[in-house]
Amino acid sequence: MRKKIAAGNWKMNKTYDDAMGLATTIGNAKVPEDVTVILGVPYIYLKEINEITKENRGVYVSAQNVHQEESGAYTGEISAPMLKSIGIPYVIIGHSERREYNCETPEVLKKKVRIALDNNLDVIFCCGESLEVRKKNEHEIYVKNQIEKSIAGLSSEDMKKLTIAYEPIWAIGTGETATPAQAQAMHKAIRDYLKELFGEKIADETAILYGGSVKPSNAVEIFGQVDVDGGLVGGASMDPDSFLKIIHSF
Ligand code: PGA
Repeated sequence: MRKKIAAGNWKMNKTYDDAMGLATTIGNAKVPEDVTVILGVPYIYLKEINEITKENRGVYVSAQNVHQEESGAYTGEISAPMLKSIGIPYVIIGHSERREYNCETPEVLKKKVRIALDNNLDVIFCCGESLEVRKKNEHEIYVKNQIEKSIAGLSSEDMKKLTIAYEPIWAIGTGETATPAQAQAMHKAIRDYLKELFGEKIADETAILYGGSVKPSNAVEIFGQVDVDGGLVGGASMDPDSFLKIIHSF
């Protein structure tokens, strides 16, 4: 049985009081027993929100990024050992915004995945194609390539701590969602590729999330696809009513 996951990605949003309010609402909410809820929050709130969510079985906190080196002269960066030292369970790696605005290459992402796993963090690894790639009908090969370059060499043990988030860039923050059929087709392609890389058991056990304008009105249908195991949700995760509806959409 694969995990069902509703993950929120707050990105660079919420000042302190709003962040604590939202975390407290979700942290106190009743979550279905078979659903894992993850809140991807800004670094500076991680420790405090981790304390809040720890009270609730099934709700966890995640960093939105991590540096690829263990320590050193990297002003402004946060390392995997630092996240580990304050008990953070998850980290999002390879979000398309970081690939684009922070020039994160597949090679750098590979290092980030490695150091996160070495520090016992669970990884949500993001992949997804641009509209241009989709229009050329090259989306499957593009996403496979992202996976190949950053996670292909992982061990079975490593893969137990990795979740994939497929997020077509053209659907992120645009209000335009992939149709359930488009999501399913890509998730199936990803799972088939995982089978090639890691074998059937790992492929069957790895959760693959969909991201890109998930909201209460489309979550049930998207999460209902056989190879979709939940969502990575941006905008709608910052409204408690919307996110709670999404959490209950499995
Ligand atoms: P969105 O963002 O739900 O606002 O489209 C998703 C994401 O970037 O993870």
